[in-house]
Amino acid sequence: MRKRLSYLLTVLLMCCVLANSSYAQTQAVTNNNRKWWKEAVVYQIYPRSFKDSNNDGIGDLKGIISKLDYIKSLGVDVIWLNPMYGSPNADNGYDISDYRSVMKEFGTMDDFDALLKGLHERGIKLVLDLVVNHTSDEHEWFKQSRSSRTNPYRDYYHWWPAEKGKPPFRPGAFEVDGSGWRYDSLTNAYYLHYFSYKQPDLNWENPKVRQEVYSLMRFWLDKGVDGFRMDVIPFIAKDINFPVITKKDLDENYNGGWDQYMASGPHLHDYLKEVNAQVLSKYNVMSVAEGAGVTAATAHKFVDADRHELNMLYHFEGVNLGYIPNRFKKMDPHGYSLIKFKQIYSKWDSIFEYKGWGTIYLGNHDQPRMVTRWGNDVPEYRELSSKMLTTFLMTMRATPYYYFGDELGMSNIKFDKIEDYRDIESINMYKQVKNNGGDLNEFIEAQKISARDNSRTPFQWNSSENAGFTTGTPWIKVNPNYISINVEAEEKDSNSVLNYFKRIVKLRKSDLAFVYGRYDLIDKANPDVYAYTRTLNHDKYLVLLNFHQHISITNIGFNVKGSKQMINNYSDGSLIINGKQVTLKPYQAAVLKIQ
Ligand code: NOJ
Repeated sequence: MRKRLSYLLTVLLMCCVLANSSYAQTQAVTNNNRKWWKEAVVYQIYPRSFKDSNNDGIGDLKGIISKLDYIKSLGVDVIWLNPMYGSPNADNGYDISDYRSVMKEFGTMDDFDALLKGLHERGIKLVLDLVVNHTSDEHEWFKQSRSSRTNPYRDYYHWWPAEKGKPPFRPGAFEVDGSGWRYDSLTNAYYLHYFSYKQPDLNWENPKVRQEVYSLMRFWLDKGVDGFRMDVIPFIAKDINFPVITKKDLDENYNGGWDQYMASGPHLHDYLKEVNAQVLSKYNVMSVAEGAGVTAATAHKFVDADRHELNMLYHFEGVNLGYIPNRFKKMDPHGYSLIKFKQIYSKWDSIFEYKGWGTIYLGNHDQPRMVTRWGNDVPEYRELSSKMLTTFLMTMRATPYYYFGDELGMSNIKFDKIEDYRDIESINMYKQVKNNGGDLNEFIEAQKISARDNSRTPFQWNSSENAGFTTGTPWIKVNPNYISINVEAEEKDSNSVLNYFKRIVKLRKSDLAFVYGRYDLIDKANPDVYAYTRTLNHDKYLVLLNFHQHISITNIGFNVKGSKQMINNYSDGSLIINGKQVTLKPYQAAVLKIQ
């Protein structure tokens, strides 16, 4: 009897262990759980800077069409296109004046249709940017709304009548005075704008607004687009009583930051459920939230499949690492801690281990160039560290969002003067520092690392004038390093960053272990090396990444000898393995299959 009991207990224990380990993971890879958007590599295109077809200095849709074969050659599955709708461009298209048209500079609706067709013919999906927290102040809804207090569109936006006094502070991210309210004398009232005054916030509490949004989503989905990246979507829902928020309240309930307060509107998840029920669920499409203000504690609410809201979100915890708190995007001069970096990405992996699904990115149009910020852009290490970072992105358990130009190892342009900047954020923050008597040199130096324009410079196609982007005057300067860093040169060089990118995309797609496999961090306390395994059934891969410019040693904890090398960013394929220990050269990256 005793023996039987102990046998049963052992079986029970084994079941628990297995449920929490690789067996649970293999269970996750069922036809039901497999999704195309989990297995995809997303490539983001900033249309303004990709390719100019009519030489007005601004990239356009025909330009993208002319480069479809290049896009196909990358092996990516989904294109995320930044906003290409009618816009006066206060914030480069994130201020939409007409949701159902194409921005004049970018072309026509026929061009859009041809682009979608061309992508689909090549087996590539297209995801659009959905910007519905705010419109442009030049949108017809806002023009109507501001015209009188009784206009039917008045409640499409948030208004605060001036006779109630000044509204309680809300931040306006791109405003020189930092205020998110703007006084409009026409109706003696303030309107809310979380970004610039040219971007008034829509009132999602109004069911008519929500129906307008669903209708415009259907407009694009009916054309055949494959989903949406949802701009600052957690901001859509607000406490429309606009209570006074004290610093104490922010500190105690929102980690001291407005972003979490702004993202915490009481009806947010009712709205996302409605978006899903009325629109998304009717199509085979993907949705990804720009997860501004989303934390580990709130992430599941957005993406757990049984909640029927969205598919994925991208968090900011990773990209916010390394800045000095309360100093506008100023890097800590000591750089960032790899230990913290590993903690953050391991934490976000574990958040979605059994439910939901993650994303992974290091660059986009709001971030500086990945290699400058997270690697090392000096000539000696730019290529190696670009490849190393790409190896990280392509081997994590999350959908990679890869920013155009990073596949070439493009780096920050580092403007020395404010006149070179085009971004509303840099220009207005410069004015803010100036008005506050701050240190403008310090600001410009910090911007060389962190400014958004660093990643918005034109794509580098070849070594002809303006990198082959345009024969006109480019809307923003081209990085002078285009002479050597460009597609034409890199296509010819089998060891280029570009060819490495293509190889590692293939590797990711060669085994579902890279998508769904369990992630285990190794040598956690190592300050220089990021090492982990990815395991699915009997397949196990070891990923080794040296994040520093010196030789680093990592202790793996199991014998690595005899394993098969799948990729190595050193062209001679060298890797020093000594039993359980591996010695990595500066910025070395390698993926091994454990036999
Ligand atoms: C997030 C976008 O990514 C960014 O570029 C934009 O400035 C803000 N949202 C406002 O729309």
